Amino acid sequence: MLNVIILAGGKGTRMHSAKPKVLQTLAGKPLICHVLDSVAKLDNPHTIVVDGFGGELVRKRLQSYPVLFAKQKEQLGTGDAVKTALPHLHATGKSLILYGDVPLISPKTLQQLIDANSEGIAMLTAIVDNPFGLGRIVRQGGKVIAITEQKDANEREQAIKEINSGIYCIDNTLLQQFIPKLTNNNAQNEYYLTDVIKMAVDTGIGITTISPNLAFEIEGVNDRKQLAKLERTYQAYLITKLQEQGVQFADPSRVDIRGTLVCGQDVFIDINTVFAGNVVLGDGVQIDANNIITNTTIGANSHIKASCVIDDSTLGERVSVGPFAHIRPKTVLGDSVKIGNFVETKKSLLGVGSKVNHLSYIGDCQMGQAVNVGAGTITCNYDGVHKFTTTIGDNAFIGSNTSLVAPVSIGVGATIGAGSVISKDAPEHKLSLARARQVVIEHWQRPKK
Ligand code: UD1
Ligand code: CA
Repeated sequence: MLNVIILAGGKGTRMHSAKPKVLQTLAGKPLICHVLDSVAKLDNPHTIVVDGFGGELVRKRLQSYPVLFAKQKEQLGTGDAVKTALPHLHATGKSLILYGDVPLISPKTLQQLIDANSEGIAMLTAIVDNPFGLGRIVRQGGKVIAITEQKDANEREQAIKEINSGIYCIDNTLLQQFIPKLTNNNAQNEYYLTDVIKMAVDTGIGITTISPNLAFEIEGVNDRKQLAKLERTYQAYLITKLQEQGVQFADPSRVDIRGTLVCGQDVFIDINTVFAGNVVLGDGVQIDANNIITNTTIGANSHIKASCVIDDSTLGERVSVGPFAHIRPKTVLGDSVKIGNFVETKKSLLGVGSKVNHLSYIGDCQMGQAVNVGAGTITCNYDGVHKFTTTIGDNAFIGSNTSLVAPVSIGVGATIGAGSVISKDAPEHKLSLARARQVVIEHWQRPKK
């Protein structure tokens, strides 16, 4: 049985934010959600989040996560925070102790830490160049005997480069035994969780240590500079992985992935694109500069030209979008569809080979195949209260500057004359016109200056 205790009580004073620190975002996701998403990959975890500052906000954001909350009334130290979680732990089994502000811990490292706990306590440590500020791992004959905090460390201890990540896997029976005995006789008058290590050693329990697979996994976030630095480290890591799978980035430092990006073969991504949520790009997809693509699947050999916003949509193969197009949620573009500049689509299905090339709004529309929509065509889908559907049959031709006043249906092969306001159904294979006839005024004088 696995418990997970996530300490998330800190205010994060150095962030200078109204939000609790663990809700600051990295790669578009709150820090603590990164931790919870890693934890979710473990075998049947029972998680307790210890909150404090801004706890209501934390609880609200984590509503959809299967976690219990325990409120730490006062920030009396990491030992006190774990004490808050004690009543919720299983009687036996192990607990992972994690931090809401150490976001990038991986499921792989966590599993290794759990497996390493054979004697009661396993901890994650690392050798670093600059250990200042962190707890030092004190060893004797190779064995861990204590952790000493920076402010309590003597000169010899300060020279130690092996640091405490703060992440442990500890048997619940040991937590129940030692945590209530912690005192705050130290430089910070805090209840140090780290003192559990010394107590365990004193009762003859061996401490196992392992290191994280990647250095950034144990990096914590305390201020905006650290957050930005970790963001860059993480982005570089994500981009490198995609490069190793064959994705070509014009400049790997000018692309951000805020979620997951899955790419086929020979994908090319130009500069300044943000991918958010779950994005899938098929083989041979080309993304030009300056796009924002969210929760979208794009089929093979499609081309997204510069400066588009594409959200929650599905694009077929050989589709062309942009430049300057806005593909809004629930747009489905069939294969070989062409969406040109200054076109907005929303909750619409466009059939294979249909074209909307310039300056149009297509909303709540069911469009067949090989339809040609002229420049400046608007589906008038809203009467101020209700939304209505426009249906357009295969091979229809909509002349430029047409208003399609929904609910309305354009028949298969119908042609609509330019400048029409179409408020009645247009029959198949006929020309429908709905506009004033052109007249010529003979006796008219242009005003003179
Ligand atoms: C702690 C460790 C230190 C380790 C370092 C790694 C202790 C005593 N020291 O130090 O050995 O090298 O982490 O980053 O454990 N928190 C609460 N309630 C509290 C106090 C803290 O929820 O009362 C939370 C904080 O929000 C934070 C985490 O626990 O997320 C760590 O607390 P922090 O005060 O930053 O510990 P450090 O002094 O950095
Ligand atoms: Ca810290």
